[in-house]
Amino acid sequence: MRTTINQIKEMKQKGEKVTMLTAYDYSTARIVDEVGVPIILVGDSLGMVVLGYETPIPVTMEDMLHHTKAVVRGSKQALVVGDMPFMTYHVSVEDALRNAGRFIQEGGAQAIKLEGGVTVAEKVRRIVECGIPVMGHIGLTPQSINQLGGYKIQGRTPQAATRMLEDAKALEQAGAFAVVLETVPAPLATLISQKISIPTIGIGAGIGCDGQVQVVHDILGLFADFVPKHAKQYAKVGDVIRKAVTEYYNEVKSGAFPTEKQSFSMDESILAELKAK
Ligand code: KIV
Repeated sequence: MRTTINQIKEMKQKGEKVTMLTAYDYSTARIVDEVGVPIILVGDSLGMVVLGYETPIPVTMEDMLHHTKAVVRGSKQALVVGDMPFMTYHVSVEDALRNAGRFIQEGGAQAIKLEGGVTVAEKVRRIVECGIPVMGHIGLTPQSINQLGGYKIQGRTPQAATRMLEDAKALEQAGAFAVVLETVPAPLATLISQKISIPTIGIGAGIGCDGQVQVVHDILGLFADFVPKHAKQYAKVGDVIRKAVTEYYNEVKSGAFPTEKQSFSMDESILAELKAK
């Protein structure tokens, strides 16, 4: 039985921290799921860490569905959240409903995430009315990177901070079950967490959030292009992979791999017959 949105909401009431981590493939999802992380986000960050784009903007619904299906196959207990890519919910409510539905029906996810507050609240309400749980995402919203003018801390002016609180409340009222706060000053994130009843899940938003989310490649030390300030590297998996690939490369070149252990034998008489032909 997978984690439900009610269990996630109850965690806030009980003062239990919510952990969320991204995954984009079967093998990683299995590990994250086996550890017991209750929410796996198939984030559009896959555009950068898996597909090699500079931003998440080129990521398509087909990319997201492909990876969501793999994560669903690799997990048993986690709530899988599919991230709606750029321009798949912006043009109309109809688009938003259709694409949210695809994540659930084709992708096998249990919920979707989309970026924005007041401006997307009506779409959130309509998606929730269709029976699809929605996670909001405010603060630094990477799909609007061109509008924001870079990866900057959000909500530092009185107007921006007020707007962010209004966005969080609009999402709560529209029926979102949780909201991501990205790159937000810690005191503001704490205040927003106190002012709304649904869990806030922070990334670069300090300890006062009800939960935390990270990009799995960042915590594993697997994405070397850029290490965000909010990320802590719990391992240097990139170095481990580099060492293993180098050893493999050297052993193939020198003839040290494969050995008999990795080879298969056959009946000597069949070989002798073949040689005699
Ligand atoms: O795409 C993503 O991974 C995200 C998280 C960083 C919240 O949106």
